[in-house]
Amino acid sequence: MNTSYKPRLAILISGKGSNLQSFIDAIQMNVIDAEIVCVISNNPDAPGLEKARAAGLPCQALDHRQFPDRDSFDVALADLLEGYRPNLILLCGFMRILTPAFVERFAGMMMNIHPSLLPKYPGLHTQQRAIEAGDTKTGATVHFVTSELDGGPAIIQAEVPILEDDTAETLSSRVFEQENLIYPMAVRWYCQGRVTLSNGRACLFGRPLPPTGFAFQG
Ligand code: GRF
Repeated sequence: MNTSYKPRLAILISGKGSNLQSFIDAIQMNVIDAEIVCVISNNPDAPGLEKARAAGLPCQALDHRQFPDRDSFDVALADLLEGYRPNLILLCGFMRILTPAFVERFAGMMMNIHPSLLPKYPGLHTQQRAIEAGDTKTGATVHFVTSELDGGPAIIQAEVPILEDDTAETLSSRVFEQENLIYPMAVRWYCQGRVTLSNGRACLFGRPLPPTGFAFQG
């Protein structure tokens, strides 16, 4: 009998795979008791695929440009993912908008991390937008994925101050330090059965979290 069952994580990337690396490290350091069963990139040239290979993880590219439209790519991606029987799908810098049909197939078992204090600044260039708006703080949010872009129920949020001389780059790297902490933390909670999506709300121990998620104090 196999008694060594571990939650199966599937990771979707498009670029550097920085969040992917934080999961590789978190599993190696026993912060998360799970197994990465596949890394899939829509971009065949994503440097993150090299990180996956270096860690000995099964990885492959599914190039969206080989498909006639968004729907057919999403069906192929969902079929590919299902073959790996994941318990949780993690978007790690995955730069594709997912169709509602895709999201429904994996409802409650897909997470994303976004570099802003959602619901502020969904989409791209979040640090630049926060600086230009004169905000004094920004941060990162881990959330369940719904068909609304960066709009699913928040699980954990971490704040970061915006300093006077910050550029988008300096701010991004400070936010990324927090991402490294809160994304593995949310996944750890999910793998332990503590975090769930229930009636459209992220719940911790069965109780709904506030709309901005658990407030992480780093
Ligand atoms: C992270 O900053 C995350 O907030 C966003 O994508 C970035 C990671 O991209 N979703 P990558 O893994 O370096 O390509």
